[in-house]
Amino acid sequence: MSMTIEGKSYLITGGASLVGSHICDSLLQAGAKEVRLLDNFSLGTPATIAHLDDEPRVKRIRGDVLKLVDLLEATQGVDGVFALAGYLTLPMSQDPFNGLSVNTIGILNTLEACRFNSVRRLIFSSSIAVYGMPGGGAIDETTAYASSGLQPASNLYGASKLIGEALCAQYAKKYDVEFNVLRFSSVYGARQHARAVNAVFVANICDQIVRNESPVIQGDGREVHDYVYVSDVARACTMAMISDAHDHAINIGTGVDTTSTQVAEMAIRLSGNAGLKPVYQADNRAVKSAAASELQINVDKALSTIGWKAEISLEEGMRRLMAWQKTNASHAR
Ligand SMILES: NC(=O)c1ccc[n+]([C@@H]2O[C@H](COP(=O)([O-])OP(=O)(O)OC[C@H]3O[C@@H](n4cnc5c(N)ncnc54)[C@H](O)[C@@H]3O)[C@@H](O)[C@H]2O)c1
Repeated sequence: MSMTIEGKSYLITGGASLVGSHICDSLLQAGAKEVRLLDNFSLGTPATIAHLDDEPRVKRIRGDVLKLVDLLEATQGVDGVFALAGYLTLPMSQDPFNGLSVNTIGILNTLEACRFNSVRRLIFSSSIAVYGMPGGGAIDETTAYASSGLQPASNLYGASKLIGEALCAQYAKKYDVEFNVLRFSSVYGARQHARAVNAVFVANICDQIVRNESPVIQGDGREVHDYVYVSDVARACTMAMISDAHDHAINIGTGVDTTSTQVAEMAIRLSGNAGLKPVYQADNRAVKSAAASELQINVDKALSTIGWKAEISLEEGMRRLMAWQKTNASHAR
């Protein structure tokens, strides 16, 4: 029988993260008794969780997933853990030492603390980066990792998430710690930061539109990504926590490929200023994730296992992101 969120206690590692802050909102809304947000603020900022300052059910813990002792304490008495602490491709390119440590040893410590404190289930925030640079055709959860053609930081990121996933499977097999691995596509939305290559593109386009400037695209505009709104992702995480289905790896995206040109055109439509036109520039991005003109993330398994489907269109998501940007001028670090 499915579990419920109501009356339960949860820990979110990387609690000051974009996704973690929205999971916290979703848990509180569903009646959670307590949500612990553990973060060392190496990347995230207190601003991301400032809206929770007066919420008595939220407990902030300044802690480090590289310190097992912090996790042993933080997992005491919790029903489930959302393992969000991680280094995306951009911070991985800047600091591979900490990036690899957090994405591998960090999740190992988290699983070990779950085992020690008999935490029932852990949700691991993985990524479609675990497919690397696949050669075309739909990508489902059985698609193998292809490293050829990837930039080094993307390769390190994808490989580190694969190790995290394998550790989850190992702890389930050996110690019965239940898990669900969620492979997010490009997550964007309110409280956006500047650490995710593809979401930064959407955020920049929205920012330019908010300032009534023409949207700038690096490259020919044909690159596609699967952009999924952050509150949809948070809902997927909570559903994966309470679902009867566990020990799965599941793609979390919309299944829709959107080109950079389409993102810009959508943003222009939202602005209501038809005079704005996309401006194309030479592609000089130093760090890129896997990029192609076709992606086709298959999201059927999310529906068949945890009953999740994305609900927020890119246009609606960009509208929400712009609304947030208008009142948070100095966002994104
Ligand atoms: N944002 C995306 O587009 C995306 C896509 C796929 C997967 N993911 C994964 O989802 C997770 C959350 O993504 P996000 O964009 O919300 O991340 P984020 O960058 O906003 O947050 C990561 C958090 O982890 C914290 N952290 C780093 N090292 C830590 C440590 N040693 N101890 C405790 N906390 C530490 C950071 O301070 C930060 O608050 C990450 O694991 C990421 O790899 C994100």
